[in-house]
Amino acid sequence: MTILERIDRNNTPRHIAIIMDGNGRWAQQQGEDRLFGHNFGVEAVREALRAAQELNVEYLTMYAFSTENWGRPKDEVDGLMDLLVRTIGKEVDELDESNVVIRTIGETSGLPASCQEELDLAYERTRNNTGVNLVLALNYSAQWEMVEAVKQISDLVNSGSLDKSEIDRELISSHLETKGMPDPELLIRTSGEHRVSNFLLWQIAYSEFHFTDVLWPDFKQDDLYKAVLDYQSRDRRFGLVSEPLEK
Ligand code: FPP
Repeated sequence: MTILERIDRNNTPRHIAIIMDGNGRWAQQQGEDRLFGHNFGVEAVREALRAAQELNVEYLTMYAFSTENWGRPKDEVDGLMDLLVRTIGKEVDELDESNVVIRTIGETSGLPASCQEELDLAYERTRNNTGVNLVLALNYSAQWEMVEAVKQISDLVNSGSLDKSEIDRELISSHLETKGMPDPELLIRTSGEHRVSNFLLWQIAYSEFHFTDVLWPDFKQDDLYKAVLDYQSRDRRFGLVSEPLEK
């Protein structure tokens, strides 16, 4: 039986979030520079997307560039932005044909103009598709997102259009970048690191975490299926107790 065949199709996550990590170390192992690793990382994004399509996952959110990543050497940052523009430009036709919606979370206004244009075009082109939503987290950090939500909600309270007593979890969720999206049931991080690194902190309150030692450029469809199988083996209780065994 293949890994895919072992998956229970009635219990697949609607939303999978991935922290793609290990491009630099993978490149170093090949004696190449970090950008070489990022280039191969794009192939792994394709693998993850194909697997998500196979499982009818609705949202696949990929941490492609964090607010903190601006601190990397200029060559690497420029190279990553260039890679993003080239990849979206090259792939948009095929993604559109396979019914994918390309969208972003994060402060995209802080990205180079060429990136913003390519992302806007890709969204306009694919927004009416009904397949997987490929959500690229770009210039994203969860703490930035929460600060922005607090500012927006404060403005509403200050202007009198919202009363403090109306602030609840749903209201806060509706002011996050992920508004309208279900929270991820499954968060995957590659490369053996066990950190959340400022990713979707609010949304992962009840997510299952799957860590794998695979470096991101080596990530294949089967690695996503393994993560889903691991997820399906968990007893998700949401703070409650397990169902009592039937007598
Ligand atoms: C983490 O590896 C990877 C990134 C910060 C960038 C991820 C970006 C891509 C895979 C390209 C994305 C392209 C599209 C179209 C979504 P690292 O550099 O932190 O690796 P290290 O921890 O081994 O140094």
